[in-house]
Amino acid sequence: MAERVAMISGANRGIGAAIAAHLGGRGWSLSLGVRRPELCAPSCGSFTVAHRYDATDTASESAWVQATAERFGRIDAVIANAGIMIPKTVIEADDKDLDLLLQVNVRSPLRLVRAAWPWLTQSGQGRVVTLVSLSGKRVKSARSGLYATSKFAALATTHAIRQAGWELGVRATAICPGFVATDMAVGLTDRAPQDMTQPADVARLVSMVLDLPNTASVAEIPINSTLEEMV
Ligand SMILES: NC(=O)c1ccc[n+]([C@@H]2O[C@H](COP(=O)([O-])OP(=O)(O)OC[C@H]3O[C@@H](n4cnc5c(N)ncnc54)[C@H](OP(=O)(O)O)[C@@H]3O)[C@@H](O)[C@H]2O)c1
Repeated sequence: MAERVAMISGANRGIGAAIAAHLGGRGWSLSLGVRRPELCAPSCGSFTVAHRYDATDTASESAWVQATAERFGRIDAVIANAGIMIPKTVIEADDKDLDLLLQVNVRSPLRLVRAAWPWLTQSGQGRVVTLVSLSGKRVKSARSGLYATSKFAALATTHAIRQAGWELGVRATAICPGFVATDMAVGLTDRAPQDMTQPADVARLVSMVLDLPNTASVAEIPINSTLEEMV
């Protein structure tokens, strides 16, 4: 069995699928958290398993962690990738929209990390990687405002995990891309997919973060395919 074990949420498509393909090729054992594991199973390699994970079901994080620990006996990394975007201004949106964004983009990733914490701290080298966004660092437009509200919270949560885990050897990193060529970006921009950051390139950065030692920790990685002033 391969040495290190990573849990990846939302690994059935987009950035999550690219991270799974990259890490799978580098010898990681993978536990993929997806809403429909039956659709994921045929493409899974021998060191890859798929479990049900639904960010709106508050029991699913701990069940997925338990199944992963039973299967592999260790958890070295949690990659909180699953996320949603609701393209509404904070004025148009109602409480239900904000609740859903916070549930999927903030609360569930935190519940997942909490559930995996005993395993992440066991090795003294646990890793947490959160797919945040440049929208966690700046509010670029009115239409991305509600999403940015959730992603600012996701960024703060990642820093908070970093603080909580430091002495235990856990290193947390926020990956903050601009547009990435996935389903999510379609409809949000007129930009051609080839002019956006590619999911495979995000996966390479995630892999690098997982490989760096505790003494070379990176808190945030902003990634952009266009020129902005600060990011
Ligand atoms: N694409 C971008 O431009 C971009 C930029 C910056 C940050 N990000 C962030 O990167 C992450 C991945 O985005 P992506 O571009 O790969 O998006 P995507 O192609 O839309 O994929 C989203 C993934 O999240 C899963 N998901 C959504 N709601 C879920 C729920 N309630 N429970 C469990 N899984 C759920 C989806 O599962 P289903 O297939 O079942 O729907 C899918 O696997 C997100 O956190 C996103 O906010 C994306």
